[in-house]
Amino acid sequence: MKNLTALSRRSFSKVLIAGPWVLRGQQAPPRAHIKIDTERVIDDIDPKIYGNFAEHLGRCIEGGIFAENSPLSDANGYRRDVLDAAKKLGVSILRWPGGNFSSNYHWKDGIGPRDKRPPRLEMAWGTVESNRFGTHEFLNYCEMLGTEPYICANLGTGTWEEAQQWVEYVNSSQDTAMTRLRKENGRGDPWKVTYWGLGNEIDGPWQMGHRSAEDYGKFALEAAKLMKWTDPNIKLIAAGSSNYTNGIDWIGWNRTVLDFLKTHADYLSLHMYVGNTANDFGDFLADSLLLNERIKITEGVINGVMSGQPRSRKVYIAWDEWNVWYRARGNSQRGRNILEERYNLEDALVVATFLNTFVNNAHIIKIANMAQLVNVIAPIFTDEKRMFLQTIYYPLALFANNTKGKAMELLVKGPTYPHRTFGEVPHLDASAALDDRTLVINVVNRHRDQPVETDIELEDKQFSGPVEVSEVNAGDIKAENSFDSTAVKTVQRSTKAEKSLLRYSFPPHSYTMLKATLA
Ligand code: AHR
Repeated sequence: MKNLTALSRRSFSKVLIAGPWVLRGQQAPPRAHIKIDTERVIDDIDPKIYGNFAEHLGRCIEGGIFAENSPLSDANGYRRDVLDAAKKLGVSILRWPGGNFSSNYHWKDGIGPRDKRPPRLEMAWGTVESNRFGTHEFLNYCEMLGTEPYICANLGTGTWEEAQQWVEYVNSSQDTAMTRLRKENGRGDPWKVTYWGLGNEIDGPWQMGHRSAEDYGKFALEAAKLMKWTDPNIKLIAAGSSNYTNGIDWIGWNRTVLDFLKTHADYLSLHMYVGNTANDFGDFLADSLLLNERIKITEGVINGVMSGQPRSRKVYIAWDEWNVWYRARGNSQRGRNILEERYNLEDALVVATFLNTFVNNAHIIKIANMAQLVNVIAPIFTDEKRMFLQTIYYPLALFANNTKGKAMELLVKGPTYPHRTFGEVPHLDASAALDDRTLVINVVNRHRDQPVETDIELEDKQFSGPVEVSEVNAGDIKAENSFDSTAVKTVQRSTKAEKSLLRYSFPPHSYTMLKATLA
């Protein structure tokens, strides 16, 4: 009150109108409006957009998922703490064995008695591959985790026959040399793996077996024919673009590859990693706009190529490698402790904006895999004795466990900030999902310093009961987690809505999930 008496009459009336912000000499927080009409549906959200990736790279498998002599592991060598964290993450599909590793992986090296398997030089990442974790170990792990396996075949140095026989070994019920071998190795019933990759990043000169789009398209088509003739129920993922270097025709790559594979591929795989190399928060948080642009362009390419095909033949996008990755990167990354990116709050926010983008493109993005699962650019981090959850674990877990059902079209109106290539970027980035009467709204506030006061309005329904709030935030955008402290995690509380209106103030640099029941 002391402050008030010191104010002139004029400024006092301003305070009454504008609220305490003027009194404190600050600007009123920006305001936004989100409108939701529950009949405006984008498409069903495929749960497989909440996938992960496990490559024979660094300590992802050896020392992450699998640590044979560790007291933290079970009798088969699987780290129990990692398995438990992966279960809570809600991993819906797990891609394996690579990545670049897959382009020289010969799967027969990884079956049979573990002690008899041949160690091989691993040229993608500069180690020796023990082959102690192979097809059986991976597929048993997927069963324990309750996740869909996705195997990426070697279309780098591998042969058509090798890819075909892998499908036969894993999926066939007929009595053949391959299925007898599987039985000798302890597995009677086929696993029936549905998702098979036709190689990895063949567009990149860094890839073992890099080819032109035409050469890859021709080669992959022959592999695809043999694989589908072995098991017509499998779904094939063609290697789309990962190389966006200036001057590279990444759109042309996708068009040519699809031209060859339009009759056989079910998905086109795309990859994208981003980073805050310029240490510019606003710029970094806008990377999801680039992701969205690439999705729209690729959707157009798919529609064009598929225009002469029967309408029932569909090709979707599998964004099967994505994440923040820029610190532990480059030529030095060879050997065992590599790609061990440590994540902070701003990385977690970027992850949430990527997930919003996948949900908002639910009609075309049907698979997405955060790269990777453990230690290597990953949400879970271990040493020999301990484990902790990185900042990026929390948004992925919130999405995977809650954002289900139908993706909703949203109208988001609110403040923006200038951006060097996109013109204006909205401070609020949002997505929403409706599952029966449960409405989930995901909002990232890209404003570094200010909350955004928001009116969320339902056009055709009313809220009922309290609204669950889950927030991922911290005082500092650079805050990280470690073995000893958890600075960034999900904090839960609840709020109220009235009839069709939910008023919420999204704090600066935060990701918030609102979960409401509709009347
Ligand atoms: O995920 C790390 C690597 O990134 C993968 O091996 C490769 O496919 C991509 O370039």
